[in-house]
Amino acid sequence: MSHETFPTDRPAVVTCGLPYANGDLHVGHLRGYISADVLTRALRTVGQETAYVCGSDMHGTPIAVNAAQEDVTPAEFALGYHEQYRETFPRFNVQFDQYGHTDDETNTALTRSIVETLEEAGHVYEKAIQVGYDPDADQYLPDRYVEGTCPYCGAHARGDECDEGCGRHLEPGEVSDPVSVLTGNPAEYRERDHRFFRVSELQEYLSGFIDRLEGTSNAQNQPREWIEGELRDWCITRDMDWGIDYPGEEAEELVLYVWVDAPMEYISATRQHSETVGTDSFDWEAVWQPSDDERSTPTEPGGGGEVIHVIGRDIIQHHTVFWPAMLHAAGYTEPRAVAATGFITIDGQGLSTSRNRAVWAREYLDAGFDPDLLRFYLTTNGGLQQDVDFSWEKFQARINSELVGTVGNFLYRSLLFAHREYDGTPDVEVSARVTERIEGAMAAFRTGVNDYSVRAIGTAGVELARFGNEYIQSEEPWKLTEEAPDRARQVIRDCVQLAQAVVVLLEPVLPGTCQRIWETIGAEESELAALDLETALAAPAPRFDAPAEPFEPVEDEQVAALSEQLAEQIAAASEQPAVTDATTEQEESAPPEEGLEPIATERVSFEQFGALDLRVGRIETASPIEGADSLLRLEVDIGVETRQIVAGLRELHDAEALAGMRVVVVANLEPAELFGTESDGMVLAAGDDADLLSTHAESPPGTKIR
Ligand code: 2FM
Ligand code: ZN
Repeated sequence: MSHETFPTDRPAVVTCGLPYANGDLHVGHLRGYISADVLTRALRTVGQETAYVCGSDMHGTPIAVNAAQEDVTPAEFALGYHEQYRETFPRFNVQFDQYGHTDDETNTALTRSIVETLEEAGHVYEKAIQVGYDPDADQYLPDRYVEGTCPYCGAHARGDECDEGCGRHLEPGEVSDPVSVLTGNPAEYRERDHRFFRVSELQEYLSGFIDRLEGTSNAQNQPREWIEGELRDWCITRDMDWGIDYPGEEAEELVLYVWVDAPMEYISATRQHSETVGTDSFDWEAVWQPSDDERSTPTEPGGGGEVIHVIGRDIIQHHTVFWPAMLHAAGYTEPRAVAATGFITIDGQGLSTSRNRAVWAREYLDAGFDPDLLRFYLTTNGGLQQDVDFSWEKFQARINSELVGTVGNFLYRSLLFAHREYDGTPDVEVSARVTERIEGAMAAFRTGVNDYSVRAIGTAGVELARFGNEYIQSEEPWKLTEEAPDRARQVIRDCVQLAQAVVVLLEPVLPGTCQRIWETIGAEESELAALDLETALAAPAPRFDAPAEPFEPVEDEQVAALSEQLAEQIAAASEQPAVTDATTEQEESAPPEEGLEPIATERVSFEQFGALDLRVGRIETASPIEGADSLLRLEVDIGVETRQIVAGLRELHDAEALAGMRVVVVANLEPAELFGTESDGMVLAAGDDADLLSTHAESPPGTKIR
């Protein structure tokens, strides 16, 4: 890889987080795949050789659980969704060069060979650990088969991640008070031999890697805490049948953890793409396999191509710690960039598939909207890292104002005028002022590509169209054709050039629409997507037909009907018994972004607030808990008594300095047990750094907080 400005002379691969083959696609999914598609198209427009690859994530416990519920094999279950995804993505103009899946032969062989390489190089060891076991079901309970309490923050945790609390990846055996999701019975812990990847030994490399990583700031900053803190080894095996068998005979009852084989599909899919088009056209090894003397080191990025991962922000740790650690240890190319998107909310609330608070891909298509409208909404509404709210009203407002009112209006009026008055492009040179303005938009587009900002990429074209509207409006060429025909010709010549530039600049976001316009005005017959950014300034076709209106406005009646449908589906779902489907709630309960979370839209009453008994407490002692790296056992005086409270402060505070500090305690919280230690209450703290809440004056312990 390089850190040179795009285009570089190395091939690039853009990937997008693999969807679990586990449920219908919705706008939350589409945001990522569309964003990565826009970035890919824009990279190609600036001249970067780029492949866009992805695939379905077939393994993991949620798929095994859901398949069992439907009484089909996990393979049948996952392949059904895989086929649906393959068919759906192109309908949103998402064009993968290869869309594979993690359970195919290429990925199985590649994953096993990389794990063997890791073993041979001494990066893997065996260790006996306690894993959940359900005696009634006579089954081990990997990952999502078990629920309990996060040992770090006390939140309800499911399997391998604390997705309702601190967001940490949880290793097998870490969940406290484990309960089997199979029977609802308390799970036992039993000892089993598992394989661990020595991530801890790669700290120096990972520190260097994260320093040079490009992409969004959440992906650059969040991992520092993990890498610079205590970096723990990673359990890469699971006790289950569904997955890729661990290589080697002795470990045949183990499969690889889904997060080992899933990212390998990035490489497998690139390889399959090369096999389809021929290595002369695209060489997967040039991307992923640098020669021995070009391998990355702690201080040098090494060789290979430009690997760019677009992901959701809930999987930053996998892509900035575990994945680059595996790549480095096995001698593969490290990622150049990780761009992590925010989430989609629906009408201000978290998207929830189990509550049917979602806009489904098929609903959007059934409503008959052009896919480009959704592409535009999802990629230009906010920066990539920001959460984007979707409501049909907001969709209508933005499409009608920006696409219909600005882009469509400019393209249609200027091209129609040119066709009617001049039968095409007036035969004069484009003016210097307009050329300069187009060059400015091209520069903004290039900057957007190099900043991994799909919003900036799209905005470059919209702003140019806005300029075009102002230009044609202020010049009023329709008044000049008689009195000042030369000036009218000049203005329309400029407008045709501006229209061509807008179409070139907006192709990544609006590929279908721009291709249709190109078929009317393009001087070249080739597909617009195959042309480069310089086409913005190339000579337009001397003659062209009348253009069609590029966009249809979104009508009030459609919006009213769709909004009602959404409200009804949410209401219908809320009448069902609460579903705690561990496999579908990730979006709703994903950990907060490093920036500010939106304020919760659901209000609580005074009564509800009053039910919380908040008291001033004074920390008497703070001591570590054996085996729990991040927890402290506090003794807190709350006036009427002294409480034992377990808090996730060990990595963030100096234990000795805590004694004597006044804090705010939730005194009537249900007691919980963390790492075998009872916690009777909670100490309040702000943000990821656990900034402890205190009082300003000398309120004594036990004082009620209102
Ligand atoms: O979180 C998820 O939805 C995973 N299926 C993403 C996998 S991305 C990758 F690493 F393969
Ligand atoms: Zn937690």
